[in-house]
Amino acid sequence: MSDKERIDFLRNELNRHNELYYLESNPEISDYEYDMMMKELQELEKNNPEFYDVSSPSLRVGSDINKSFTQVKHRYPMLSLANTYTKEEVRDFVKKNESLLNEKIKICAELKFDGTSISLTYNDGKLVNAVTRGDGEKGDDVTSNARTIHTIPLKLKGNYPNDFEVRGEVLLPWKEFDRLNEERLREEESLFANPRNAASGTLKLQNSKIVAQRKLVSVVYYMLGTKLPTDSHYQNMQYAASLGFNVSKHMQLCNNVDEIFDFINYWDIERKNLPVATDGIVLKVDSLIQQEELGFTAKSPRWAIAYKFQAERAESILREVTFHVGRTGIVTPVANLDPVLLSGTIVKRASLYNEDAINALDLHLGDVCYVEKGGEIIPKIVGIDKEKRNNAGLKVTFIKVCPECGTPLKRVEGEASYFCPNQSKCPPQIKGRIEHFIARKAMNLEGIGPETIDAFYANGLIKNGADLYSLTLEQIMNCPRSKTAEEKIEEINDDSYFGGLFAAPNDDSNSSGSRRFTELVSKKMISALEKSKEIPFERVLFALGIRFVGETVAKRLAMAFKNIDAVANATIDQLINVEDIGERIAMSVVEYFKDLSNIEIINQLKSAGLQMSLSQTELENHSEKLKGLSIVISGTFEKHSRDEYKKLIESNGGKNTGSISAKTSYVLAGDNMGPSKLEKAHSLNIPIINEEKFLDMLK
Ligand code: IVH
Repeated sequence: MSDKERIDFLRNELNRHNELYYLESNPEISDYEYDMMMKELQELEKNNPEFYDVSSPSLRVGSDINKSFTQVKHRYPMLSLANTYTKEEVRDFVKKNESLLNEKIKICAELKFDGTSISLTYNDGKLVNAVTRGDGEKGDDVTSNARTIHTIPLKLKGNYPNDFEVRGEVLLPWKEFDRLNEERLREEESLFANPRNAASGTLKLQNSKIVAQRKLVSVVYYMLGTKLPTDSHYQNMQYAASLGFNVSKHMQLCNNVDEIFDFINYWDIERKNLPVATDGIVLKVDSLIQQEELGFTAKSPRWAIAYKFQAERAESILREVTFHVGRTGIVTPVANLDPVLLSGTIVKRASLYNEDAINALDLHLGDVCYVEKGGEIIPKIVGIDKEKRNNAGLKVTFIKVCPECGTPLKRVEGEASYFCPNQSKCPPQIKGRIEHFIARKAMNLEGIGPETIDAFYANGLIKNGADLYSLTLEQIMNCPRSKTAEEKIEEINDDSYFGGLFAAPNDDSNSSGSRRFTELVSKKMISALEKSKEIPFERVLFALGIRFVGETVAKRLAMAFKNIDAVANATIDQLINVEDIGERIAMSVVEYFKDLSNIEIINQLKSAGLQMSLSQTELENHSEKLKGLSIVISGTFEKHSRDEYKKLIESNGGKNTGSISAKTSYVLAGDNMGPSKLEKAHSLNIPIINEEKFLDMLK
């Protein structure tokens, strides 16, 4: 067998086993055998790059190459559904549509999956595009991530239409959601509030290898196009299943309202046994001819409606309202309740959002409250039973001063929330800035997370990021640490722990004074700090946490001024002269360097040996050859990765943007440039250049 034949054989076999495993739950081979076949395929593909195929199952493992997403316009807008919460409205929906059509309708009832929607385009049976909903008109092209989702077919089976689109939902199963949050807790990263956020966050990760590890699933619920095989949505979905799509097995054709109610009642209970989150039932007029006749309103189809399940509700008594100051200074009121069982967990605390929400409830201590948990970790108070009020409790009012530092609070302009303006001295805000400093995109201090920062701060070891560099091994090992990840996980499981959002009241992190960081863990921290001294200047600049200075602005500042002293001495005019920097950012930069405590931090970082200027290679590679040019990258390349091209554009003074507009100077195009991009570039008369031409420009 030639290599090509073996590659074809392995690709077919892996596709078949993938389907048996993920769609039919009926595997024929062990995971090990599957992995071995995959390994062999990857090896053969590596040695025979001429047989590269975007539809190869080997791409399901993802890649480490960071991809930024480009925006794609939807061929048909992605609309949402009208919601209803009552059976009466369901009855009206059927009645109204029957009277509009003047004939009986059949309704296809299906589950409403609670994830993030996706639009998949197939050309010649191959997946060519996966795009998020975005604003409904255009979304992010997340194709490389979607390829890692095993329930999304890369190549279709059977008799497929040549060019068509399907829509569906990408979901993170409950089990994976729990696993992911436990892992994040251990890594001291913030938790996802619900599987929906986790799914959409994952789909937008830039590293598709991490996406592949998260085990997303997809369900397809809608097929678009003019050449569909039958007039029935239900039948067409069965056809979609025959092409290899994952279609819900729980769809049902209903002939009347009673059958619809039976379906709703059954799934309101049974959905709790499903492996994925659902938040309602979608009802669709089954006949496509009827659908077309009914048409759309501006926002949603007239032929479909979502019946949303009532979130589970419990009653409890309000004992106290505490106020929590977040990392950015925003103050959140928290209701402390008598413990009550809600959807399988005991709830003791609930979010009250802001002053307006408290006033709207006219909340008094001792009130009987209704608590709801709508697929979120944080339960909320949705109402009170005024009839049960005994009039003894005080009215709840919003505090006027910060509970952490005593500073009078200010109201966020145009919003209902309050914040503590004492940025530099208010403990949670100080910790927030240090957390920004240690973050992956900043100093990337692995092994040091928010809980560690809490412990160091509480024990007086640090008051800013720079202080970390003076810590000794001994100091770290002697520092009493806060709760372990395992303890926090337990708290999540048997209490309404607020996902890292709020510290639990009575949570005295230091009470467990006996626990210490082990020598191994402490040494890892020291070596992470050591390693961070190599982090390039632009990221150090970002890590400082200057207001409005995000990653891109930090890059611009680094390139324009080359070292920290030059940035510190820059005038507003000089700053505004830099691309992407306007008055608001310029003023914030100047403000930052006026503050002597910040200068002290910078001096500390300098003496610790951090990169406070561009390195020799960065200086050498830096040019202004592309100054003023805005370049869009599209397609795949041979000489460099997309990411490398992005860096080249930026280090030569140009700007890499995601979507083509009249302001675009060039499109740097590789293979497989998207047809919509090509069209747009042509229509705006924007020159398209290839790799060679681009590299020539840098010579
Ligand atoms: S049909 C034109 N069916 O709900 C209407 N949507 O609120 C196409 N969703 O954006 C949508 N399960 O992400 C449809 N069985 C289902 C669904 C479903 C979940 C989501 C979808 C949509 C949102 C609308």
